[in-house]
Amino acid sequence: MSTEAKPKAGLEDVVAASSAICFLDGDRGVLAYYGYDIHDLARGASFEEVCYLLWHGRLPNRAELGDLQSQLAAERPLPEALLRLMKQLPASDGMDMLRTLTSALGQYDPEVNDNSPQANYRKAVRLTARIASLVATYGRMKNGGGPIDPDPALGNAANFLYMLTGNRPSALSARAFDIALVLHADHELNASTFVARVAAATLTDLYSAVVGAIGALKGPLHGGANADVMRLLIEVGPEASPERIDEAIRGKLARKVKIPGFGHRVYRTEDPRATHLRRMSKELGEKAGNPRWFEMSRRIETLVTGEKKLYPNVDFYSASTYYTLGIDIDLFTPIFAVSRISGWTAHCLEQYANNRLIRPRTDYIGPTYPQTLLPLDQR
Ligand SMILES: CC(C)(COP(=O)(O)OP(=O)(O)OC[C@H]1O[C@@H](n2cnc3c(N)ncnc32)[C@H](O)[C@@H]1OP(=O)(O)O)[C@@H](O)C(=O)NCCC(=O)NCCS
Repeated sequence: MSTEAKPKAGLEDVVAASSAICFLDGDRGVLAYYGYDIHDLARGASFEEVCYLLWHGRLPNRAELGDLQSQLAAERPLPEALLRLMKQLPASDGMDMLRTLTSALGQYDPEVNDNSPQANYRKAVRLTARIASLVATYGRMKNGGGPIDPDPALGNAANFLYMLTGNRPSALSARAFDIALVLHADHELNASTFVARVAAATLTDLYSAVVGAIGALKGPLHGGANADVMRLLIEVGPEASPERIDEAIRGKLARKVKIPGFGHRVYRTEDPRATHLRRMSKELGEKAGNPRWFEMSRRIETLVTGEKKLYPNVDFYSASTYYTLGIDIDLFTPIFAVSRISGWTAHCLEQYANNRLIRPRTDYIGPTYPQTLLPLDQR
């Protein structure tokens, strides 16, 4: 390609698709799904309502919501073969499990290669229900418990916590988790969604596109950051004095170590999702009688924002929120996928509906052309 076209590293600010789903204004800190502000959705909508919005472009009425809830509940049970496969996997990372078993889910779906809009919609619902079941069941089995059948009377968030712990969650825990799912549902052309759209644009099946997205989400620069935040809090130590916390973080900044949960490619101000997660982390910590993780997080935020002008992103306060809910660190990034599957599938449905292969170019920086090919014994 000609040397005039030099993209910014990491495709910063490059517009790579037209989409009606997510509006993001990084300067003003605005995030909206189909025009609905994330703050309004976090206060007034459930995850299922948000799924409907992302898939249909409008909010459901009561009957439509009821239908979607029934469809999700009906799709939650996992094929027996998947449970057997999960038991056979070597001890692994939660995201490795999710990548492998989401791929396997496709092999047990008779509609896997039906790319009609109707089948793809059904698969979006199925994947959203089953990824939650996979993650909850994995978390339970990892702690030595047996799989728990989903409860069709519970919504997505409450059912996830029930399948994970075996106990029906309190209203506060269920709503906190529901809000976390709402906040993580979509985020424009983030790395994993871009992967999903590029794959869908080849007209491959929805499972293949989602497996690619899961692989991208695992990375520590993307969804993997939420687990790294909790590891950082534990490394610094819940007993650490404010001075010790500052010293530990300053030391990392001086060594140019990135602090997980801070910074963003698009936001130049506070990530609007962090506002809610900060509040939830505080409320849950106080309610549990253990505000320590929140207090440590707050101290780190003050320092990093003050010294580096970097703001917390979605991953920073989700770490202490999940940990206070009693969730294992290994499940943090898989839980991101439990929510983001709604956005991935919405973007794939949008891509399939108006498709053209996504095939960009590189800015070639290799040796001059042509090079002379010498025989093997002369090189
Ligand atoms: C999100 C992220 C990948 C965005 O990356 P990006 O747009 O490519 O920005 P860069 O990595 O080029 O960072 C720009 C500058 O800010 C610094 N910076 C960015 N995030 C930082 C962080 N979390 N801690 C410390 N410094 C950070 C970089 O070191 C760089 O400084 P420099 O110009 O002196 O070299 C990056 O901020 C990051 O790695 N954050 C930590 C991981 C994380 O929380 N990921 C989840 C994102 S939702």
